[in-house]
Amino acid sequence: MKITFFTHNTFLLKINNKYLLIDPFFSGNPFFEKKDYIKYINNIKKLDYILITHAHYDHVCDVEFFAKKFHNVLVISNYEIANYFERKGIKTYGINYGSFIFFPFGKLKYVWAAHSSVFSDGTYGGNPGGFLLHTNEGNLYISGDTSLMYEMKIIPNFGPLNISILPIGGRYTMDIEEAIIASNFLKCKKILGVHYNTFQEIQINKNEAKKSFYKKGKELILLELGEFIYI
Ligand code: NI
Ligand code: MN
Repeated sequence: MKITFFTHNTFLLKINNKYLLIDPFFSGNPFFEKKDYIKYINNIKKLDYILITHAHYDHVCDVEFFAKKFHNVLVISNYEIANYFERKGIKTYGINYGSFIFFPFGKLKYVWAAHSSVFSDGTYGGNPGGFLLHTNEGNLYISGDTSLMYEMKIIPNFGPLNISILPIGGRYTMDIEEAIIASNFLKCKKILGVHYNTFQEIQINKNEAKKSFYKKGKELILLELGEFIYI
């Protein structure tokens, strides 16, 4: 499994030769200077799925752009978000909490997140969530925007995780302290930190963050824009 990071909660997964884009946030992303983001968008040559955790603007901003660019792309999200994009003529697959669903890349489950979910035009965005992916190239938990929650203890019951992708920027989501406790709940040693340094309100010190995880016996991975890892 290859994970490429594009700041915030935006990343591209390559699993079993399928390409999955998570929460595309390029054009409205203040991290990119001017039209800089276009270069990164153009680096994405193939796309099969878009996964959306919740309806906030910093997670759905470029869904329509990618759905139009890659005609066969399938948008997977909660029922309400799927309906919203279906009405715009995009192919969607609406789900809700409660079961694994089999796709060519592996099986996927929509799981609870403690957050909120509404589109910027006021349309109700269903319940926010995260994704649990079990694949023959590894198991991955993407929490989406969430605070620390006791429900995370359920996740490792379905099988051990290779890596978890957790927000660490605070204010709207978990901060570093909460994310370390989350990694204990998840029984997961390797964390990819996201949702930080994109806005003024969610600034962190990257070295301090890594040290805090290290002291608790965990590894915090922080990728630069466009950087990737294999798990
Ligand atoms: Ni949010
Ligand atoms: Mn967010």
